Amino acid sequence: MSITTNQQSAPTKKIGILTSGGDCPGLNAVIRSVVKASTLKGWDVYGIPYGTDGFIGIAEGKYHPEDLLLARHGYNLPGILKGIDVLQFLSGSVLGSLSKGHPEDSEIASKILKGYEILGLDALIVVGGDGSIDIIYELAIRGNWKMIAIPKTIDNDVPYTELAVGFTTAVEIVTQALYDLSFTAASHERVMIVQVMGRDAGHLALHAGIAGGADAIFVPELTPHLTPEILEGCCRQLARLRAEGRNFALIVVSEGVKNLEGNKEKYIADYLEKVIVEKMHVLCDADPAFCDLKAVDVRAMSLGHLQRSRPPLAMDRLLATVYGIKAVELIEREKFDRVVVWRGGKVRGLPLKPIIKIIQQCHHENRCAYPVEADSFMVKTARSLGIYLGESEISEGSIDPESLAILV
Ligand code: F6P
Repeated sequence: MSITTNQQSAPTKKIGILTSGGDCPGLNAVIRSVVKASTLKGWDVYGIPYGTDGFIGIAEGKYHPEDLLLARHGYNLPGILKGIDVLQFLSGSVLGSLSKGHPEDSEIASKILKGYEILGLDALIVVGGDGSIDIIYELAIRGNWKMIAIPKTIDNDVPYTELAVGFTTAVEIVTQALYDLSFTAASHERVMIVQVMGRDAGHLALHAGIAGGADAIFVPELTPHLTPEILEGCCRQLARLRAEGRNFALIVVSEGVKNLEGNKEKYIADYLEKVIVEKMHVLCDADPAFCDLKAVDVRAMSLGHLQRSRPPLAMDRLLATVYGIKAVELIEREKFDRVVVWRGGKVRGLPLKPIIKIIQQCHHENRCAYPVEADSFMVKTARSLGIYLGESEISEGSIDPESLAILV
């Protein structure tokens, strides 16, 4: 009896895959999915090390193409964890990633193009955020590459996809951190201010803030910068909670929120701690009702890169796997220059060009390409729970019955 695979008789293909931009949980699951699906078709997959820098390495002879073949060499981890399948469990990127802007000069861009040519790829899968996809698309146009993009980022700010790889796990990490912090906060009757990543998008802070029980959430879309009114609103929220008998509070601030002067702070949580304490004193001078707050201890912390570095949750593994399979399918059908997206429970390959146009326009105007919408269901949910979102008055808020119509 002979063992058969569903290997196709269609001509073999050479495809490349690279990860670019900040790492996140699920990158290795995408790589594994692409390698598995391609190998079954008899294709070769080349893993490009460190984003487009890998092409420079190939052009300079640092990497030999044969050594980059993923299926042939696999990743032989210690003990029984051998081969390509274990990749779906691991965080980070086994290919390495690159967080650089546009290639500094045309000599570097030419080397990248030369490296691609040496490999003679039929298509390149780029696993990246909006910045990386934009930069690499420019190179793809110049080099006439056939590109498929897979969105990944804990910021979840790639337009037209409801989910980017890594986001769900990051939400879980931040949610768990908030839960953990509530015990130390309660033990010391403290207000904890927690800084969350997201660049100029507030999805991570908003989702995790709601799930983790935050009492105030500041995101750049609703609170582009702090104001005296917002600080007062926050102190009122803290005073209200104390009056209700809560002996601690959690404030989540997204890193994209700017200070009172409208400038970016490296540690906006530390800044917020300082100005909230100042505000508590000012309010007490004017109104004794606030004087209780003066005694409250406030502590700030930033969760930093811990938000990116856990094994992917099942949902991120599934998303990464489905995205990888879709990318391979698009290559097989020769539908190039596409970005794989998740919308309304469906996976699609949308044309890349118009999405790049939106990304470029937003970057040009210093706007987030896929911001939190002020009237989104998540924002309404936060308001309905009485979470302070930086509005000068706490809105009663209510869940729009129309948004529930789908369930009926
Ligand atoms: O885009 C992902 C992200 O983690 C952002 O949330 C954050 O601002 C940035 O990357 C941090 O980048 P770096 O790894 O270069 O510090």
